[in-house]
Amino acid sequence: MFTALGSQAAALWAGFHLWTLLLGAFAFLFFADFLKRRRGKNYPPGPRSLPFFGNFFQLDFPEPHQAIQRLVKKYGNLLSLDLGFVLSVTVTGLTLIKEVLLHMDQNTLSRPVTAIRHCVFKKHGLIMSSGQEWKEQRRFAMTTLRNFGLGKKSLDERIQEEACYLVEAIQEEKGKPFDPHFKINNAVSNIICSVTFGERFEYEDARFQELLKLLDEATYLEASMWCALYNIFPWLMKFLPGPHQTVIRDWEKLKLFVSGMIENHKKDWNPDEPRDFIDAYLKEMTKVRNQKVQAEINKVLGQSQLPSTANRDHMPYTNAVIHEVQRMGNIIPLNVPREVTFDTTLDGYYLPKGTMILTNLTALHRDPKEWATPDTFNPEHFLENGQFKKREAFLAFSIGKRACLGEQLARTELFIFFTSLLQKFTFMPPANEKLSLKFRSGLTLSPVGYRICAVPGS
Ligand SMILES: *[C@@H]1O[C@H](CO)[C@@H](O)[C@H](O)[C@H]1NC(C)=O
Repeated sequence: MFTALGSQAAALWAGFHLWTLLLGAFAFLFFADFLKRRRGKNYPPGPRSLPFFGNFFQLDFPEPHQAIQRLVKKYGNLLSLDLGFVLSVTVTGLTLIKEVLLHMDQNTLSRPVTAIRHCVFKKHGLIMSSGQEWKEQRRFAMTTLRNFGLGKKSLDERIQEEACYLVEAIQEEKGKPFDPHFKINNAVSNIICSVTFGERFEYEDARFQELLKLLDEATYLEASMWCALYNIFPWLMKFLPGPHQTVIRDWEKLKLFVSGMIENHKKDWNPDEPRDFIDAYLKEMTKVRNQKVQAEINKVLGQSQLPSTANRDHMPYTNAVIHEVQRMGNIIPLNVPREVTFDTTLDGYYLPKGTMILTNLTALHRDPKEWATPDTFNPEHFLENGQFKKREAFLAFSIGKRACLGEQLARTELFIFFTSLLQKFTFMPPANEKLSLKFRSGLTLSPVGYRICAVPGS
């Protein structure tokens, strides 16, 4: 009897428990959603939005731009729309567009990355990256495209040649009705292919036609309702079939094609004679880290003069790189502890005598408030107008009366050893081995075991 009652009560309790949990979860989701879409005062006008879905249903897929046009008429040139995963503002009219893209550009240079884009590109590449990565990609792409003839006469010739092929292909249709879409597409793609891959593709090339179709399909479907839903509920849509899966699959195939191209380039790659964009990119990847240091060493010291601390002031880039290595290396993550000698208060809190105090240098050296790209190696952190810039938030040697006694010694060693080695060698990972930023942690952090090749010459 009692056991029966007991188990009934347990079942009731369990049921009740489940309901409270579900309710709680819902309340939490709604609240989180509410917080996310809180817009603050004076937010641009727009239609009312639903929880989770935002203005999804007002966008009238598959013709969202016409829906937006109607909304602009109603709400004005700054129209706010809640896309479900992000708040957006649509800007209409030259004056406002110039304001956003030119005058505000320091504040509008980043790219939002939707869930589906993130799935395909992460935040990488010329188009999807932001911040420092974008700056480097952009600078490299501009220079390299220029080197391969963009804006030069040779480019004219290349296009003229392709135009002749296009004319020929269209002549073959003998005036009969035909869909020119992929022929024109192929012609235009061939220009950029000849710069990036070093080759053009015949209009009859079945494989290339297939790729053009994939690209066409992926671009078309990304604007579909399905992808809009994927962007709102990626965790759910990931598991459902639909056009969003086609977009992801198409891009996988396109990326496979490009990686095949890159692998082929690696086989007969000569760093001194870049044939195309891929070759130039491969070269850039090997020199990104030490190129500039070695250029500075060659300029200030040449190949035979031994480096001394007196040279350091004339070698701001090298000095910045060493500091950046220390920042990222972060060898004493929690500093050397201190102990409170007598009862005291800190930031309003009471600390009794004998309390151990750890100062978190990891957090400081990776603090996004202090560093432009906290998680990326970037010597620019220690440079300003090409000159070395001391940073207050760099505390590799700690500060105060118990700061590292050996700072001078260590700094001298770092400079002379580092400079001497880079003066004589170029360091590279062995072929097919990847270096990692993982560390072995004891009292200090050190790199996990690794091998590198020291190639003589700089
Ligand atoms: C120090 O900061 C890092 C980075 O924020 C964090 O991962 C780590 O847990 C912190 N350590 C301590 C002991 O607070």
